[in-house]
Amino acid sequence: MQDSSQIPKIIPQCFSETTENILSNLEVTRENFWNLDRECANFLNMLVKINNSKRVLEIGTSNGYSGIWILKALEETKGKLTTIEFWEKRQSVARKNFKLCSPNSVVEAKIGSAFIILEDLAQEIENNEREKFDFIFIDANKKEYVKYFSLVDKILAKNGIILADNIISHYEKVKDYVDTLFNRNDYQSQILELGSGMILSRKS
Ligand SMILES: C[S@@+](CC[C@H](N)C(=O)[O-])C[C@H]1O[C@@H](n2cnc3c(N)ncnc32)[C@H](O)[C@@H]1O
Repeated sequence: MQDSSQIPKIIPQCFSETTENILSNLEVTRENFWNLDRECANFLNMLVKINNSKRVLEIGTSNGYSGIWILKALEETKGKLTTIEFWEKRQSVARKNFKLCSPNSVVEAKIGSAFIILEDLAQEIENNEREKFDFIFIDANKKEYVKYFSLVDKILAKNGIILADNIISHYEKVKDYVDTLFNRNDYQSQILELGSGMILSRKS
């Protein structure tokens, strides 16, 4: 059996020069902004396309690195990104990056505490003012994942996907979220040893 660390991880440079330049610059500072690594971002982009997702919610925008990869997938699926961040300055950087990398994309950037915004989104869905999401990426406050899930479950469509990051790196903080998912027989979940560890869940 080949030691997997010896196998090169080839993540293609698949976007325009402008986008690749912005992604490369963000990769230099990724430790400061807690961005996904390129391998996880590539996986996220593929999942959105494989699921043909059109209404994607991201909890934890930061400076927009993962959001750019989501938008590139949504260019193909013709979908829209809603993204939540409580740090205004960070999200304004993200908005600029989104415009440069995906000028025709539809982005709803929400500033505020994730749980409060999730409550608003759930209310809008209940009032038939918006449709449920078909893909939700959770990457904000690790201790709150299980709290987010109480609302994420309400706003996620049947056959919808949840991808949550930092599952192995912050296992103690997210354990209740992982346990909740594994105890739900309407969700199928799998932990992936990718980046900081992710859990992929599908609602049936
Ligand atoms: C890990 S970073 C997101 C990285 C981003 N998804 C990427 O890969 O480019 C988490 C972000 O969530 C934000 N955040 C943390 N707790 C939050 C909360 N309760 N509500 C809204 N945003 C939150 C932080 O300010 C931070 O920018």
